[in-house]
Amino acid sequence: MNESLLTREALKAFAEKHRAAFEAELKTLVEIPSISADPSKKNEIQLCAQAAAELFHRYGGRAEVLETEGNPLIVGRFGDDPALPTVTVYNHMDVQPANEPEWVSDPFVFTTDGDSYKGRGSTDDKGPAITALFGALAAREAGVPINIKFLWELEEEIGSPNFAKGIATHKAKLGTDAIVVSDTVWITRGKPSTPAGLRGLKGFRLTLETADHDLHSGVVGGAARNPLSELIKVVAEMVDGETGQVKIPGFYDEVVPPGAEELENWRTSGFTVETFKKDHMIFGMRTEEPLEVLKRVWGMPTMEVHGLVGGYTGPGLKAAVPPRAEVKMSCRLVPDMDGDRTIALVQKFVNARFPDVVFHVEHGLAPFKGHTTGRYAEAIKDAYRFAFGAPCAFTREGGSIGAVKTMEEVLGCEVYFLGLSLPSHGYHAPNENYDWEQAGGGIAAFARYFQTVSGFSR
Ligand code: BES
Ligand code: MN
Ligand code: MN
Repeated sequence: MNESLLTREALKAFAEKHRAAFEAELKTLVEIPSISADPSKKNEIQLCAQAAAELFHRYGGRAEVLETEGNPLIVGRFGDDPALPTVTVYNHMDVQPANEPEWVSDPFVFTTDGDSYKGRGSTDDKGPAITALFGALAAREAGVPINIKFLWELEEEIGSPNFAKGIATHKAKLGTDAIVVSDTVWITRGKPSTPAGLRGLKGFRLTLETADHDLHSGVVGGAARNPLSELIKVVAEMVDGETGQVKIPGFYDEVVPPGAEELENWRTSGFTVETFKKDHMIFGMRTEEPLEVLKRVWGMPTMEVHGLVGGYTGPGLKAAVPPRAEVKMSCRLVPDMDGDRTIALVQKFVNARFPDVVFHVEHGLAPFKGHTTGRYAEAIKDAYRFAFGAPCAFTREGGSIGAVKTMEEVLGCEVYFLGLSLPSHGYHAPNENYDWEQAGGGIAAFARYFQTVSGFSR
Protein backbone atom coordinates (compact mmCIF):
# COMPACT_ATOMS: atom_id res chain seq x y z
CA MET A 1 0.00 0.00 0.00
CA ASN A 2 1.37 3.40 -1.00
CA GLU A 3 0.26 5.66 1.84
CA SER A 4 1.57 8.78 0.13
CA LEU A 5 -1.35 8.39 -2.32
CA LEU A 6 -3.83 8.43 0.56
CA THR A 7 -3.11 11.79 2.15
CA ARG A 8 -5.79 14.42 1.91
CA GLU A 9 -3.71 16.38 -0.60
CA ALA A 10 -3.02 13.32 -2.76
CA LEU A 11 -6.69 12.34 -2.79
CA LYS A 12 -7.70 15.88 -3.62
CA ALA A 13 -5.30 15.73 -6.56
CA PHE A 14 -6.71 12.34 -7.57
CA ALA A 15 -10.22 13.77 -7.57
CA GLU A 16 -9.21 16.82 -9.63
CA LYS A 17 -7.39 14.63 -12.13
CA HIS A 18 -10.52 12.50 -12.60
CA ARG A 19 -13.06 15.30 -12.50
CA ALA A 20 -13.73 15.31 -16.24
CA ALA A 21 -14.22 11.53 -16.21
CA PHE A 22 -16.52 11.78 -13.19
CA GLU A 23 -18.66 14.38 -14.95
CA ALA A 24 -18.80 12.36 -18.17
CA GLU A 25 -19.89 9.23 -16.32
CA LEU A 26 -22.53 11.09 -14.33
CA LYS A 27 -23.83 12.65 -17.55
CA THR A 28 -24.19 9.24 -19.17
CA LEU A 29 -26.19 7.85 -16.27
CA VAL A 30 -28.36 10.94 -15.65
CA GLU A 31 -29.35 11.03 -19.32
CA ILE A 32 -30.90 7.57 -19.06
CA PRO A 33 -34.39 8.15 -17.58
CA SER A 34 -34.44 5.06 -15.37
CA ILE A 35 -37.80 5.88 -13.75
CA SER A 36 -38.82 2.75 -11.86
CA ALA A 37 -42.37 3.97 -11.24
CA ASP A 38 -43.07 4.31 -14.96
CA PRO A 39 -43.93 0.99 -16.66
CA SER A 40 -43.12 2.51 -20.07
CA LYS A 41 -39.48 2.94 -19.00
CA LYS A 42 -38.59 -0.77 -18.80
CA ASN A 43 -36.19 -0.38 -21.72
CA GLU A 44 -34.42 2.55 -20.03
CA ILE A 45 -34.03 0.44 -16.87
CA GLN A 46 -32.25 -2.23 -18.93
CA LEU A 47 -30.12 0.40 -20.69
CA CYS A 48 -29.14 1.83 -17.31
CA ALA A 49 -28.12 -1.60 -16.02
CA GLN A 50 -25.97 -2.11 -19.12
CA ALA A 51 -24.39 1.34 -18.85
CA ALA A 52 -23.63 0.72 -15.18
CA ALA A 53 -21.97 -2.61 -15.92
CA GLU A 54 -19.89 -1.02 -18.70
CA LEU A 55 -18.82 1.67 -16.26
CA PHE A 56 -17.17 -0.91 -14.01
CA HIS A 57 -15.51 -2.58 -17.00
CA ARG A 58 -14.14 0.75 -18.19
CA TYR A 59 -12.25 1.21 -14.92
CA GLY A 60 -10.86 -2.29 -14.68
CA GLY A 61 -13.55 -3.82 -12.51
CA ARG A 62 -15.79 -6.76 -13.13
CA ALA A 63 -19.55 -6.46 -13.30
CA GLU A 64 -22.62 -8.58 -13.69
CA VAL A 65 -26.24 -7.74 -14.28
CA LEU A 66 -28.23 -10.09 -12.05
CA GLU A 67 -31.84 -10.82 -12.95
CA THR A 68 -34.60 -10.66 -10.34
CA GLU A 69 -38.37 -11.01 -10.66
CA GLY A 70 -38.41 -7.25 -11.22
CA ASN A 71 -35.68 -4.88 -12.36
CA PRO A 72 -32.13 -6.24 -12.45
CA LEU A 73 -29.36 -5.68 -9.90
CA ILE A 74 -25.85 -4.66 -10.87
CA VAL A 75 -22.89 -6.05 -8.97
CA GLY A 76 -19.54 -4.41 -9.66
CA ARG A 77 -16.28 -5.69 -8.19
CA PHE A 78 -12.71 -4.68 -7.66
CA GLY A 79 -10.50 -7.36 -6.18
CA ASP A 80 -11.32 -10.93 -5.31
CA ASP A 81 -8.79 -12.09 -2.74
CA PRO A 82 -10.42 -14.38 -0.16
CA ALA A 83 -7.73 -13.45 2.36
CA LEU A 84 -8.77 -9.79 2.36
CA PRO A 85 -11.77 -8.06 3.91
CA THR A 86 -14.65 -7.23 1.58
CA VAL A 87 -16.82 -4.14 1.78
CA THR A 88 -19.95 -3.50 -0.30
CA VAL A 89 -21.29 -0.09 -1.31
CA TYR A 90 -25.03 0.13 -1.97
CA ASN A 91 -26.62 2.76 -4.21
CA HIS A 92 -29.68 2.88 -6.44
CA MET A 93 -29.75 3.69 -10.14
CA ASP A 94 -33.48 4.24 -10.53
CA VAL A 95 -34.94 7.71 -10.22
CA GLN A 96 -38.19 9.49 -9.49
CA PRO A 97 -40.37 10.83 -12.30
CA ALA A 98 -39.53 14.43 -13.25
CA ASN A 99 -42.61 16.18 -14.52
CA GLU A 100 -42.62 19.05 -12.03
CA PRO A 101 -43.33 22.30 -13.91
CA GLU A 102 -40.52 24.18 -12.13
CA TRP A 103 -37.69 22.45 -14.02
CA VAL A 104 -35.71 25.17 -15.82
CA SER A 105 -34.01 22.66 -18.14
CA ASP A 106 -34.79 19.17 -19.41
CA PRO A 107 -34.44 16.91 -16.33
CA PHE A 108 -32.80 14.21 -18.42
CA VAL A 109 -30.23 16.50 -20.00
CA PHE A 110 -27.22 16.79 -17.68
CA THR A 111 -26.14 20.40 -17.25
CA THR A 112 -23.09 21.84 -15.53
CA ASP A 113 -22.99 25.29 -13.99
CA GLY A 114 -19.59 25.85 -12.38
CA ASP A 115 -19.34 23.25 -9.62
CA SER A 116 -23.03 22.37 -9.79
CA TYR A 117 -24.56 19.50 -11.76
CA LYS A 118 -28.23 19.39 -12.62
CA GLY A 119 -30.52 16.56 -13.71
CA ARG A 120 -32.91 13.98 -12.29
CA GLY A 121 -30.93 11.40 -10.32
CA SER A 122 -27.85 13.63 -10.01
CA THR A 123 -27.97 13.48 -6.20
CA ASP A 124 -30.50 10.65 -5.68
CA ASP A 125 -28.59 8.57 -6.22
CA LYS A 126 -26.37 8.43 -9.31
CA GLY A 127 -23.90 11.14 -8.21
CA PRO A 128 -23.09 9.53 -4.84
CA ALA A 129 -22.81 6.13 -6.58
CA ILE A 130 -20.16 7.35 -9.00
CA THR A 131 -18.42 9.25 -6.21
CA ALA A 132 -18.01 5.99 -4.29
CA LEU A 133 -16.73 4.31 -7.46
CA PHE A 134 -14.01 6.94 -7.90
CA GLY A 135 -13.19 6.62 -4.20
CA ALA A 136 -12.66 2.92 -4.83
CA LEU A 137 -10.41 3.69 -7.80
CA ALA A 138 -8.29 5.97 -5.62
CA ALA A 139 -7.97 3.21 -3.00
CA ARG A 140 -7.07 0.66 -5.70
CA GLU A 141 -4.43 2.93 -7.19
CA ALA A 142 -2.85 3.24 -3.74
CA GLY A 143 -2.93 -0.53 -3.33
CA VAL A 144 -5.30 -0.60 -0.36
CA PRO A 145 -5.65 -4.32 0.47
CA ILE A 146 -9.41 -4.77 0.30
CA ASN A 147 -12.06 -6.24 -2.01
CA ILE A 148 -14.69 -3.67 -2.94
CA LYS A 149 -18.13 -4.63 -4.24
CA PHE A 150 -20.89 -2.38 -5.50
CA LEU A 151 -24.52 -3.38 -5.28
CA TRP A 152 -26.72 -1.10 -7.39
CA GLU A 153 -30.49 -1.47 -7.34
CA LEU A 154 -33.08 -0.32 -9.89
CA GLU A 155 -36.26 -0.48 -7.77
CA GLU A 156 -35.46 1.60 -4.69
CA GLU A 157 -37.84 4.42 -5.57
CA ILE A 158 -40.78 2.02 -5.69
CA GLY A 159 -40.04 0.37 -2.34
CA SER A 160 -37.63 -2.39 -3.46
CA PRO A 161 -40.40 -4.97 -4.05
CA ASN A 162 -38.10 -7.65 -5.53
CA PHE A 163 -34.87 -6.83 -3.71
CA ALA A 164 -35.12 -9.32 -0.84
CA LYS A 165 -35.75 -12.28 -3.10
CA GLY A 166 -33.19 -11.00 -5.62
CA ILE A 167 -30.31 -10.80 -3.15
CA ALA A 168 -31.31 -14.09 -1.54
CA THR A 169 -31.14 -15.76 -4.97
CA HIS A 170 -27.71 -14.29 -5.72
CA LYS A 171 -26.40 -14.46 -2.17
CA ALA A 172 -23.33 -16.46 -3.19
CA LYS A 173 -22.10 -13.47 -5.20
CA LEU A 174 -22.83 -10.92 -2.49
CA GLY A 175 -20.75 -12.14 0.44
CA THR A 176 -19.32 -9.19 2.36
CA ASP A 177 -17.97 -8.12 5.75
CA ALA A 178 -19.66 -4.73 5.83
CA ILE A 179 -22.09 -2.62 3.86
CA VAL A 180 -22.04 1.12 3.39
CA VAL A 181 -24.99 2.96 1.88
CA SER A 182 -24.58 6.33 0.19
CA ASP A 183 -28.16 7.57 -0.21
CA THR A 184 -28.77 10.01 2.65
CA VAL A 185 -28.54 13.75 3.30
CA TRP A 186 -26.39 15.94 5.53
CA ILE A 187 -27.76 18.53 7.95
CA THR A 188 -26.63 21.18 5.47
CA ARG A 189 -23.45 22.05 3.53
CA GLY A 190 -20.38 21.74 5.79
CA LYS A 191 -22.32 19.67 8.33
CA PRO A 192 -22.00 15.95 7.61
CA SER A 193 -24.31 13.55 9.32
CA THR A 194 -24.86 9.82 9.29
CA PRO A 195 -28.16 8.29 10.29
CA ALA A 196 -28.66 5.84 13.12
CA GLY A 197 -32.15 5.14 11.89
CA LEU A 198 -34.53 5.50 8.97
CA ARG A 199 -38.27 5.86 8.94
CA GLY A 200 -40.40 3.20 7.30
CA LEU A 201 -43.34 3.84 5.03
CA LYS A 202 -46.79 2.42 4.45
CA GLY A 203 -48.89 3.73 1.56
CA PHE A 204 -52.63 3.51 1.04
CA ARG A 205 -55.42 4.94 -1.12
CA LEU A 206 -59.07 5.57 -0.42
CA THR A 207 -61.63 5.57 -3.22
CA LEU A 208 -65.32 6.33 -3.25
CA GLU A 209 -67.81 6.17 -6.12
CA THR A 210 -71.34 7.50 -5.66
CA ALA A 211 -72.65 8.00 -9.23
CA ASP A 212 -72.00 7.06 -12.84
CA HIS A 213 -70.89 10.42 -14.23
CA ASP A 214 -70.66 14.18 -13.59
CA LEU A 215 -74.01 15.55 -12.41
CA HIS A 216 -75.49 19.04 -12.53
CA SER A 217 -75.18 20.36 -8.98
CA GLY A 218 -78.33 22.41 -9.43
CA VAL A 219 -80.35 19.39 -10.50
CA VAL A 220 -79.12 16.86 -7.92
CA GLY A 221 -77.03 18.91 -5.44
CA GLY A 222 -78.15 18.70 -1.85
CA ALA A 223 -79.62 15.25 -2.28
CA ALA A 224 -76.84 13.44 -4.14
CA ARG A 225 -73.73 12.43 -2.19
CA ASN A 226 -70.46 14.18 -2.98
CA PRO A 227 -67.52 11.71 -2.92
CA LEU A 228 -64.88 14.44 -2.84
CA SER A 229 -66.45 16.11 0.20
CA GLU A 230 -66.82 12.74 1.89
CA LEU A 231 -63.20 11.75 1.38
CA ILE A 232 -62.13 15.12 2.74
CA LYS A 233 -64.19 14.36 5.83
CA VAL A 234 -62.62 10.92 6.18
CA VAL A 235 -59.15 12.48 6.03
CA ALA A 236 -60.08 15.14 8.56
CA GLU A 237 -61.22 12.46 10.99
CA MET A 238 -57.92 10.60 10.62
CA VAL A 239 -55.45 13.47 10.88
CA ASP A 240 -55.44 17.08 12.05
CA GLY A 241 -54.32 18.96 8.95
CA GLU A 242 -52.89 21.85 10.95
CA THR A 243 -50.89 20.06 13.64
CA GLY A 244 -50.30 16.76 11.81
CA GLN A 245 -51.54 14.88 14.87
CA VAL A 246 -53.02 11.50 13.90
CA LYS A 247 -56.37 11.01 15.62
CA ILE A 248 -56.75 7.25 15.21
CA PRO A 249 -56.67 5.61 18.65
CA GLY A 250 -53.55 3.48 19.21
CA PHE A 251 -51.61 4.97 16.27
CA TYR A 252 -48.68 6.10 18.44
CA ASP A 253 -48.66 3.13 20.82
CA GLU A 254 -45.50 1.45 19.44
CA VAL A 255 -43.39 4.59 19.07
CA VAL A 256 -40.13 4.38 21.02
CA PRO A 257 -39.07 7.94 21.89
CA PRO A 258 -35.40 8.87 21.28
CA GLY A 259 -33.19 8.45 24.33
CA ALA A 260 -31.37 11.24 26.15
CA GLU A 261 -28.06 10.61 24.36
CA GLU A 262 -29.68 10.53 20.96
CA LEU A 263 -31.52 13.76 21.67
CA GLU A 264 -28.23 15.33 22.71
CA ASN A 265 -26.71 14.31 19.35
CA TRP A 266 -29.62 15.94 17.57
CA ARG A 267 -29.40 19.09 19.67
CA THR A 268 -25.70 19.50 18.88
CA SER A 269 -25.92 18.43 15.23
CA GLY A 270 -25.78 22.01 13.93
CA PHE A 271 -29.35 21.91 12.69
CA THR A 272 -31.14 25.24 12.42
CA VAL A 273 -34.70 25.87 11.31
CA GLU A 274 -33.65 28.86 9.26
CA THR A 275 -31.23 26.82 7.11
CA PHE A 276 -33.71 23.97 6.88
CA LYS A 277 -36.35 26.32 5.50
CA LYS A 278 -33.89 27.91 3.11
CA ASP A 279 -32.45 24.61 1.83
CA HIS A 280 -35.90 23.20 1.15
CA MET A 281 -37.53 26.52 0.16
CA ILE A 282 -40.28 26.04 2.74
CA PHE A 283 -42.47 29.08 3.46
CA GLY A 284 -44.19 27.98 6.66
CA MET A 285 -43.70 25.30 9.29
CA ARG A 286 -45.84 23.61 11.91
CA THR A 287 -43.21 24.48 14.51
CA GLU A 288 -40.14 26.72 14.56
CA GLU A 289 -38.53 25.04 17.58
CA PRO A 290 -35.42 23.20 16.26
CA LEU A 291 -35.48 20.11 18.47
CA GLU A 292 -39.23 19.80 17.94
CA VAL A 293 -38.67 19.88 14.16
CA LEU A 294 -36.09 17.08 14.44
CA LYS A 295 -38.29 15.01 16.72
CA ARG A 296 -41.09 15.31 14.20
CA VAL A 297 -38.99 14.45 11.13
CA TRP A 298 -36.72 11.78 12.61
CA GLY A 299 -38.51 10.44 15.64
CA MET A 300 -42.25 10.50 15.02
CA PRO A 301 -44.61 8.84 12.54
CA THR A 302 -46.71 10.88 10.14
CA MET A 303 -49.87 10.59 8.13
CA GLU A 304 -49.64 12.56 4.92
CA VAL A 305 -52.05 13.37 2.09
CA HIS A 306 -50.21 13.23 -1.24
CA GLY A 307 -52.97 13.70 -3.72
CA LEU A 308 -56.69 14.23 -4.01
CA VAL A 309 -58.09 13.10 -7.33
CA GLY A 310 -61.52 13.88 -8.64
CA GLY A 311 -63.84 16.57 -9.88
CA TYR A 312 -63.19 19.38 -12.29
CA THR A 313 -59.63 20.74 -12.43
CA GLY A 314 -59.72 22.75 -15.68
CA PRO A 315 -59.79 26.54 -15.91
CA GLY A 316 -62.59 28.44 -14.19
CA LEU A 317 -65.35 26.54 -12.47
CA LYS A 318 -67.64 23.71 -13.48
CA ALA A 319 -70.38 23.36 -10.89
CA ALA A 320 -70.78 19.61 -11.15
CA VAL A 321 -71.18 16.95 -8.49
CA PRO A 322 -68.33 14.53 -9.19
CA PRO A 323 -69.16 10.83 -9.39
CA ARG A 324 -65.96 9.48 -7.82
CA ALA A 325 -62.86 10.54 -5.92
CA GLU A 326 -59.59 9.16 -4.63
CA VAL A 327 -57.15 10.24 -1.93
CA LYS A 328 -53.53 9.05 -1.96
CA MET A 329 -51.90 8.82 1.47
CA SER A 330 -49.06 7.27 3.43
CA CYS A 331 -47.68 7.01 6.92
CA ARG A 332 -43.98 7.30 7.78
CA LEU A 333 -43.15 4.82 10.53
CA VAL A 334 -40.54 4.90 13.27
CA PRO A 335 -39.05 2.14 15.44
CA ASP A 336 -40.74 -0.03 16.78
CA MET A 337 -43.86 0.45 14.72
CA ASP A 338 -45.13 -2.51 12.73
CA GLY A 339 -46.43 -1.38 9.33
CA ASP A 340 -48.97 -4.19 9.07
CA ARG A 341 -50.39 -3.42 12.48
CA THR A 342 -50.52 0.28 11.69
CA ILE A 343 -52.28 -0.17 8.38
CA ALA A 344 -54.75 -2.60 9.94
CA LEU A 345 -55.57 0.02 12.56
CA VAL A 346 -56.10 2.71 9.93
CA GLN A 347 -58.18 0.44 7.74
CA LYS A 348 -60.36 -0.68 10.63
CA PHE A 349 -60.98 2.95 11.56
CA VAL A 350 -61.99 3.89 8.01
CA ASN A 351 -64.14 0.80 7.47
CA ALA A 352 -66.01 1.31 10.72
CA ARG A 353 -66.76 4.98 10.14
CA PHE A 354 -67.19 4.97 6.33
CA PRO A 355 -68.19 1.50 5.20
CA ASP A 356 -68.45 2.22 1.48
CA VAL A 357 -65.04 3.89 1.15
CA VAL A 358 -62.73 1.34 -0.47
CA PHE A 359 -59.36 1.01 1.24
CA HIS A 360 -56.39 0.02 -0.98
CA VAL A 361 -53.15 -0.97 0.75
CA GLU A 362 -49.97 0.01 -1.12
CA HIS A 363 -46.32 -0.95 -0.57
CA GLY A 364 -44.62 -0.79 2.80
CA LEU A 365 -41.15 -0.58 4.29
CA ALA A 366 -40.21 -1.28 7.88
CA PRO A 367 -38.45 1.39 9.94
CA PHE A 368 -34.74 0.80 10.56
CA LYS A 369 -32.78 1.16 13.76
CA GLY A 370 -29.07 1.55 13.06
CA HIS A 371 -25.76 1.57 14.87
CA THR A 372 -23.68 4.39 16.30
CA THR A 373 -20.83 2.53 17.94
CA GLY A 374 -18.09 0.13 17.00
CA ARG A 375 -15.23 0.22 14.51
CA TYR A 376 -17.35 0.69 11.38
CA ALA A 377 -19.16 3.67 12.90
CA GLU A 378 -15.78 5.12 13.89
CA ALA A 379 -14.50 4.57 10.34
CA ILE A 380 -17.40 6.61 8.96
CA LYS A 381 -16.81 9.45 11.42
CA ASP A 382 -13.09 9.44 10.61
CA ALA A 383 -13.75 9.48 6.85
CA TYR A 384 -15.94 12.58 7.07
CA ARG A 385 -13.52 14.45 9.29
CA PHE A 386 -10.58 13.48 7.11
CA ALA A 387 -12.21 14.52 3.83
CA PHE A 388 -14.36 17.47 4.84
CA GLY A 389 -12.61 18.70 7.98
CA ALA A 390 -15.85 18.60 9.94
CA PRO A 391 -17.24 16.26 12.58
CA CYS A 392 -20.20 14.12 11.63
CA ALA A 393 -23.32 13.97 13.74
CA PHE A 394 -25.26 10.78 14.41
CA THR A 395 -28.77 11.73 13.42
CA ARG A 396 -31.60 9.86 11.78
CA GLU A 397 -33.32 10.19 8.44
CA GLY A 398 -36.97 10.88 7.93
CA GLY A 399 -36.82 9.09 4.59
CA SER A 400 -36.83 5.39 3.83
CA ILE A 401 -34.52 2.95 2.01
CA GLY A 402 -36.08 -0.48 1.78
CA ALA A 403 -32.82 -2.25 0.96
CA VAL A 404 -31.13 -1.41 4.26
CA LYS A 405 -32.97 -3.72 6.63
CA THR A 406 -33.18 -6.38 3.93
CA MET A 407 -29.39 -6.40 3.43
CA GLU A 408 -28.79 -6.78 7.18
CA GLU A 409 -31.20 -9.69 7.31
CA VAL A 410 -30.21 -11.53 4.12
CA LEU A 411 -26.48 -10.81 3.95
CA GLY A 412 -25.98 -11.02 7.69
CA CYS A 413 -23.88 -7.92 8.31
CA GLU A 414 -24.40 -4.41 9.56
CA VAL A 415 -25.21 -1.42 7.37
CA TYR A 416 -23.63 2.03 7.84
CA PHE A 417 -24.15 5.25 5.92
CA LEU A 418 -21.71 7.51 4.11
CA GLY A 419 -24.14 9.89 2.44
CA LEU A 420 -23.09 12.93 0.41
CA SER A 421 -26.30 14.65 -0.61
CA LEU A 422 -27.37 18.03 0.74
CA PRO A 423 -30.90 19.18 1.53
CA SER A 424 -30.47 21.92 -1.07
CA HIS A 425 -29.75 19.31 -3.76
CA GLY A 426 -33.47 18.68 -3.82
CA TYR A 427 -34.25 14.97 -3.53
CA HIS A 428 -37.31 14.29 -5.75
CA ALA A 429 -37.63 18.02 -6.40
CA PRO A 430 -37.47 20.03 -9.60
CA ASN A 431 -33.92 21.10 -10.58
CA GLU A 432 -32.36 18.27 -8.57
CA ASN A 433 -28.61 18.81 -8.40
CA TYR A 434 -25.29 17.55 -7.04
CA ASP A 435 -21.97 19.31 -6.85
CA TRP A 436 -18.24 18.92 -7.09
CA GLU A 437 -17.58 19.91 -3.47
CA GLN A 438 -19.59 16.90 -2.32
CA ALA A 439 -18.20 14.63 -5.04
CA GLY A 440 -14.55 15.61 -4.67
CA GLY A 441 -14.72 15.37 -0.88
CA GLY A 442 -16.75 12.20 -1.19
CA ILE A 443 -14.07 10.52 -3.30
CA ALA A 444 -11.54 11.25 -0.53
CA ALA A 445 -13.98 10.12 2.17
CA PHE A 446 -14.64 6.80 0.46
CA ALA A 447 -10.94 6.18 -0.20
CA ARG A 448 -10.20 6.86 3.46
CA TYR A 449 -13.02 4.60 4.58
CA PHE A 450 -11.73 1.73 2.40
CA GLN A 451 -8.25 2.24 3.81
CA THR A 452 -9.49 2.10 7.40
CA VAL A 453 -11.67 -0.95 6.86
CA SER A 454 -8.86 -2.76 5.05
CA GLY A 455 -7.09 -2.89 8.41
CA PHE A 456 -9.95 -4.60 10.28
CA SER A 457 -9.32 -8.18 11.30
CA ARG A 458 -12.14 -10.46 10.20
N1 BES B 1 -32.58 8.53 -0.80
C1 BES B 1 -33.96 8.42 -0.44
C2 BES B 1 -34.13 8.12 1.05
C3 BES B 1 -33.91 9.31 1.91
C4 BES B 1 -34.82 10.35 1.89
C5 BES B 1 -32.82 9.38 2.73
C6 BES B 1 -34.62 11.45 2.70
C7 BES B 1 -32.62 10.49 3.52
C8 BES B 1 -33.53 11.53 3.50
C9 BES B 1 -34.60 7.33 -1.25
O1 BES B 1 -34.21 7.35 -2.60
C10 BES B 1 -36.10 7.55 -1.25
O2 BES B 1 -36.52 8.53 -1.81
N2 BES B 1 -36.85 6.64 -0.67
C11 BES B 1 -38.26 6.67 -0.79
C12 BES B 1 -38.75 5.25 -0.72
C13 BES B 1 -40.19 5.07 -1.07
C14 BES B 1 -40.53 5.59 -2.44
C15 BES B 1 -40.58 3.63 -0.98
C16 BES B 1 -38.88 7.52 0.30
O3 BES B 1 -38.31 7.67 1.37
O4 BES B 1 -39.95 8.08 0.04
MN1 MN C 1 -32.20 7.64 -2.79
MN1 MN D 1 -35.35 8.93 -3.62
